[in-house]
Amino acid sequence: MTQRYFELQGLSHLALNSSDMARTVDFYEGLLGIPLVKTMEVPGSNGGQHFFFDVGHGECLAFFYFPIMPDREVPVDKVLGGPTSPGLMNHVAFKVSQQDFDSYRRKLDELGVKYVYVRHDLDGGYSMNPADPSNDQSFALSVYFHDPDDNVMEFCAWLPAYDQLGRDHKPAGRSTAVGIERPIDVPPANIRQQ
Ligand SMILES: [Fe+2]
Repeated sequence: MTQRYFELQGLSHLALNSSDMARTVDFYEGLLGIPLVKTMEVPGSNGGQHFFFDVGHGECLAFFYFPIMPDREVPVDKVLGGPTSPGLMNHVAFKVSQQDFDSYRRKLDELGVKYVYVRHDLDGGYSMNPADPSNDQSFALSVYFHDPDDNVMEFCAWLPAYDQLGRDHKPAGRSTAVGIERPIDVPPANIRQQ
């Protein structure tokens, strides 16, 4: 049983990077209708900005913008859900209800936002065709899409089979916990250096 040290109250904000804040606001608020609720300057940054969008329940998606930003160090993996370099975000998923999922997907169509649809099943099955019905193995419906900076966003609806998912997999890599011996079945990731 895991000792719960911290009583977390949910997601305060997830801070990503924007190379063009106006374009980011156009996308999240202007196109998707996710309200921009707080804006601030980054002190001493010569024009840096920190903006917050309310994604529900007072939780925010935030962006940093700086007039001069480092080049992207690692190419973005265009395969959604595929390998992403450590230290970079893979994707962020917003929870939506099963009832709303399909109308939200159609709304993205209407808005011209390109996405990838995936129905995830417990047995490893999946479908990328929204016309395929869910079955009793289906645990999630997802649409993945890119924001203007290639951050990958997801709308995710858990289905009833989600309750059957446990924690049955050994973590890959080498545990650094003292006194815990785990069989090493899977080596740590190879980190490619540029
Ligand atoms: Fe996800």
